[in-house]
Amino acid sequence: MAILFGTYSVLNLCFLFLISIFLFRLFFRGSRQQKNLPPGPPPLPILGNLLQLGFSKDKFEGKLNRLHEKYGPILTLWLGSSRLLVMVADRQVAYEALIQKGSVFADRAPVRETLKLFSNNQHSIKTAAYGKLWRILRRNLMNSVLSPSAMKAFGEGRECGIGGLLANLRDEAARNAGAVRVVEKLRTAVFSILFYMCFGTNPDEATASNVLSVIRDVILSGMGLDEIIAIPGFLLRRRRARMAEICRREREALLPFIHNRRDASPQAGGAYVDSLLALTVEDGRSLDDDDLVTLCSEFMVAGMDTTSTVLQWAMANLVIRQDVQARLYDEIIGVTGGGRPVGEEDVPRMPFLEAVVKETLRRHPPGHFLLPHTATRPSDLAGFNVPVDASVYFYIADMGMDPGVWQKPAEFRPERFVDDGVEVDLTGTKDIKMIPFGVGRRMCPGIGLALFHIQFIVARLVQEFAWECKPGETVDLSETTEFTMVMKYPLHAIIKERREPMMGRT
Ligand code: HEM
Repeated sequence: MAILFGTYSVLNLCFLFLISIFLFRLFFRGSRQQKNLPPGPPPLPILGNLLQLGFSKDKFEGKLNRLHEKYGPILTLWLGSSRLLVMVADRQVAYEALIQKGSVFADRAPVRETLKLFSNNQHSIKTAAYGKLWRILRRNLMNSVLSPSAMKAFGEGRECGIGGLLANLRDEAARNAGAVRVVEKLRTAVFSILFYMCFGTNPDEATASNVLSVIRDVILSGMGLDEIIAIPGFLLRRRRARMAEICRREREALLPFIHNRRDASPQAGGAYVDSLLALTVEDGRSLDDDDLVTLCSEFMVAGMDTTSTVLQWAMANLVIRQDVQARLYDEIIGVTGGGRPVGEEDVPRMPFLEAVVKETLRRHPPGHFLLPHTATRPSDLAGFNVPVDASVYFYIADMGMDPGVWQKPAEFRPERFVDDGVEVDLTGTKDIKMIPFGVGRRMCPGIGLALFHIQFIVARLVQEFAWECKPGETVDLSETTEFTMVMKYPLHAIIKERREPMMGRT
């Protein structure tokens, strides 16, 4: 009898569950049609579309591609029962949102508890709502260190970072019959340059390793599940404690440099932190220690892994495409005459170098999505409604691979920009072909700095060394998601000193 009763209850429960899914879907479809939201897969109660997307970072894009094939270039996904995502994988729709309706789709969503801690309650440029504070902080960054004239002033920091990189490569090559692993050395070099721009001084070895490891932890701590679905507080205790510990270390590592600079008399000027110390924001208030730590950290977080990831992809492709490397080397020798290291002023005179970097960014954008945008008011996009609480994701990796724009999009072919005359405007003002830095109001303010650093460092690396594959090995271009889209099997190459004697070799 008890068994019969048990079976009966289980059947009842199953029946109730199926009915509730059916009613839920009916309700969702009705409400989606009523609200004219973009199409999308039917969500489950509580979980939304989480199961359709899966929990593997590396399989996410494959699943998303299949959903786009089924539902079209703009679709709706539910994360949990309350978070609405609008996914855009089409150049024209991105143009409509980011350029034509740029001021509408320029906002960022409120962040949840744990990210509130990291962003100092959205007092960073990338997380700030589209408004006065964002405008002041962004304008200050652009005018203080990112304008072309300001960037020139940091040559000493660049020489120190690149000098260290070349020395590290030589050192490892000498110990390993020419074989070098590059990604960490590239990251250290980029970090050193950004640190110099931020604090006006080159980091010594201990500082570099301490601050860099904190910045890496900030980068990798990324987004937790609690940003996506509501999770009871007691389950988040460990994650919150870990994040709080990283914030504490971040403060401890950066505050001495901030205070040194503040106490320097007269005000040193020139570095990013100096501009922040002199800045007043809403209501004439100066920035406090928490603001300063957050903004200095943001500067290094935003530029470090993005730039070094692209550098690694560029070198990996140059190892594979020896003919492209040879052509680039010829260009470098043509411009420098072979008797001196490439100078910063040489970079604009190297169209093939520019093409190599553009092609790397097209084929391997470090972020496959822009940071999520939200609308400042209910709006329409591609004929559908987008409510203010929707996070809009732009799938930019897919845009750079559109066969309607790019011939043989999967191939790494910098020649397309110089021999075939393909033109591309990275600001996307006229149209969108590839947008590794985003476009419109929220476009990456570091675009000029990043392009310059990547071009300059690639030129120096190719001028100093011939880059080859390790005998018996191939370069594997598989990707995996870290903070950026990185090489799953980091580049391990052979470097050989070039034969041309050069004055002033580092
Ligand atoms: C290869 C290097 C880089 C790439 C590919 C890159 C890409 C991006 C992208 C895609 C965004 C989001 C745009 C959007 O949401 O629409 C962004 C935002 C941002 N980037 Fe970069 N970035 C790079 C380097 C840098 C550097 C060197 C800095 C500064 C030193 C920087 C500072 C920022 C900031 C502050 C934001 C937030 C902008 C805002 O919300 O207004 N980035 N970047």
